[in-house]
Amino acid sequence: MMNLFTRWCSLFFLAISAGCSYDNVEELAPKIPCQTPAIVSYSLSISPLLDRNCRSCHNPTLLTGGVNLEDFAELKRRADTGQLLGVVNHMPGFAQMPKDGAKLSDCDLALLQKWVTAGALNN
Ligand code: HEC
Repeated sequence: MMNLFTRWCSLFFLAISAGCSYDNVEELAPKIPCQTPAIVSYSLSISPLLDRNCRSCHNPTLLTGGVNLEDFAELKRRADTGQLLGVVNHMPGFAQMPKDGAKLSDCDLALLQKWVTAGALNN
C-alpha cells in the first residue's frame, strides 16, 4: 500500500516537473507566431521572401551559380523539380542556400513548402 502510494507520488511529481520544465522552455523560447495563409501568394509572400534572402546573388546581372530567381519560369522549373525545397531545407544532395548564410526561418520554409505544393503558381 505504502509502496503504491510512493509510486503514485513520484509519478505525480514527474508529471508536475515535466509540466514546469515545458513552461520554462516556452518562456525562454517563445514560439514565433507563424501564420501561413490558406493560399500562399507569389507576389505577396514568395517574391518578397526571395528578394530578402536570395536575389542579391540570383539576379539577371550576377547570375550566381547560373541561377536567376527573378525569372519566374526558371524559378517555377526549379520549384517543380524539387530543387528549390531541397536547397532551402539543406536536404542531402543539394547545395545549401542561402549560400554561407543562416537557414531560412521555419515560417519562411513553411511558406515556400506550401507554395510549391500548391503548384508554384504565379498568383
Ligand atoms: C551569397 C550568395 C547566394 C545567396 C544569398 C543565395 N545563393 Fe543560391 N547559390 C549561390 C551559389 C554560389 C550557387 C552555386 C552552387 C554552390 O556554390 O553551392 C548557388 C546555387 C543555387 C541553386 C542551384 C543549386 C545547384 O545545385 O545547382 C539554387 C536552386 C539556389 N542557389 C537557390 C537559392 C535560394 C532559394 C536562395 C535563397 C533562399 C539562395 N540560393 C541564396 C549563391 C547564393
